[in-house]
Amino acid sequence: MTDLPEELKLVLTFFGGTGDLAKRKLYPSVFNLYKKGYLQEHFAIIGTARQEMSDKEFKDLVKDSIEDFANDFSEQEIDKFISHFYYIAHDVTNIDSYEPLKALVEDLDQKYTTDGNRIFYMSVAPRFFGMIAKSLKSEGLLSTNGYNRLMIEKPFGTSFQTAQQLQNELEEAFNDDQLYRIDHYLGKEMVQNIAAIRFGNPFFDNTWNHNYIKNIQVTLSETLGVEGRADYYDTAGALLDMIQNHTMQIIGWLAMEKPDSFSDVDIRNAKNKAFSSLRIYKGKDEVSQNFVRGQYVGRKSAELNYNQEAGVAENTQTNTFIAGKLEFNNETWKGVPFYIRSGKKLAEKTTRIDVVFKPTAFNFGGNAGLQGYPVLTIIVDPYGSIKLQLNAKAVTDNFFLRKINLDWNVSEQDKTDSPEPYERMIHDTMNGDGSNFADWNGVATSWKFIDEIVKVYDENQAPLELYKSGTMGPDASDELLEKNGDAWVLQGNHRKTIDANL
Ligand code: NDP
Ligand code: BG6
Repeated sequence: MTDLPEELKLVLTFFGGTGDLAKRKLYPSVFNLYKKGYLQEHFAIIGTARQEMSDKEFKDLVKDSIEDFANDFSEQEIDKFISHFYYIAHDVTNIDSYEPLKALVEDLDQKYTTDGNRIFYMSVAPRFFGMIAKSLKSEGLLSTNGYNRLMIEKPFGTSFQTAQQLQNELEEAFNDDQLYRIDHYLGKEMVQNIAAIRFGNPFFDNTWNHNYIKNIQVTLSETLGVEGRADYYDTAGALLDMIQNHTMQIIGWLAMEKPDSFSDVDIRNAKNKAFSSLRIYKGKDEVSQNFVRGQYVGRKSAELNYNQEAGVAENTQTNTFIAGKLEFNNETWKGVPFYIRSGKKLAEKTTRIDVVFKPTAFNFGGNAGLQGYPVLTIIVDPYGSIKLQLNAKAVTDNFFLRKINLDWNVSEQDKTDSPEPYERMIHDTMNGDGSNFADWNGVATSWKFIDEIVKVYDENQAPLELYKSGTMGPDASDELLEKNGDAWVLQGNHRKTIDANL
């Protein structure tokens, strides 16, 4: 007999149950949790949206989604799984439509003996988030004998003010520890690995500070362009789409001190402490000195410039690339720049962290050559890997230094076993573990920081640097580091290689 994990009992309601995200990510993720035995008998899933649909039609939609997007399933398994799915037409803006939803939730709670545990997942447009949360409470959908948890999709606000307003609305109905703000980068295996690498190895744990680290670099680069999402993207740009959320969340794991324990509360406290010392740049001079914004132009005549993409105005000033330097005003990070960058249509799709260490003070003698900077690289995407660039002795008759590379790659088995971020995040919410979700204080600080940059960009007080698609962004991004005597560890093919720099 195979050992099954302890069964999780709950009614899970998806608002936006017919949408793109639900079909591509959410149903296949819940199915994986079912296959692994976390969900067995005592669970029910409700899908809601405005359109009328029978339970049978909804079950077919879920079945199609699993067949299209899940791996490794049998017909029998899917049929058993979808027997737990129910659909109800519901307009989130119509207060009267919460009553039948309430009746269904209560009914399913009884039918499947789910102990009053409820998760509500808001996979709808962000303008509905506050309204749904308030209505769940006012219309009595929150359970009194189990837990109530709310999963919130991105984006969480479009500025500090709108994020604060949303937070206030959510707090009218839920305590903060019932809120699970999704940032799918926090669900990535190798982002979660940062803590293990930092705190699990004394040689990193003890050197993770300004005495040993020269700079830290975070790159989230994409080869794709706006892919038909111009309506949204042209209002957000790389700054709001990738920096304010994903990049800053990764920074939280890198800049925090060791938490008192590995609980979600202590992890949040440690991240918040670091964020509270983030230097917020004010005005055009500080922003321009520390941030670079760019926009792509086609490298070849057949390729579109960003301002030629469908739905984008010719005179758009939207950034499709951002590079920046962050500073933390605390003892640990005194003088250590955290460089970040993200953009569309860059040379490669990768998410990576490069930690550049200082060389030791040891003098190997006149002929040994200069020591290089040891570098720890954590590659999150496209496949997990950890690289370590070290100083070592070259094999010669004399004593020379050379760089050597240690390289570890996630195995094929690990890749198969790694849950997708959405599966992990839904599972964590079922377990009440908020460690890998965005915390309100972190989100608020990030917005306050970003708002100041947006102000400068909205008034066009900073140059918009054009870069060719297929490169790693404008030269100004490289110059941002060069003026501090630093260089990106990952260089584009238009620049010198890192070995020449270090
Ligand atoms: P879609 O537009 O594909 O789906 C929206 C869903 O909401 C549909 O089921 C729609 O059905 C329903 N809906 C719209 N208006 C109402 C209403 N008034 N009352 C009830 N239901 C309503 O959106 P996505 O699935 O792409 O995105 C959902 C959320 O997830 C958004 O917040 C988005 O930012 C976020 N997200 C999406 C990603 C993706 O890859 N798709 C990635 C990351 C985040 P109907 O019209 O029948 O009501
Ligand atoms: C999303 C952004 O949050 O993240 C997209 O809206 C971006 O523009 C995507 O393409 C990248 O995610 P991933 O996991 O493919 O790196």
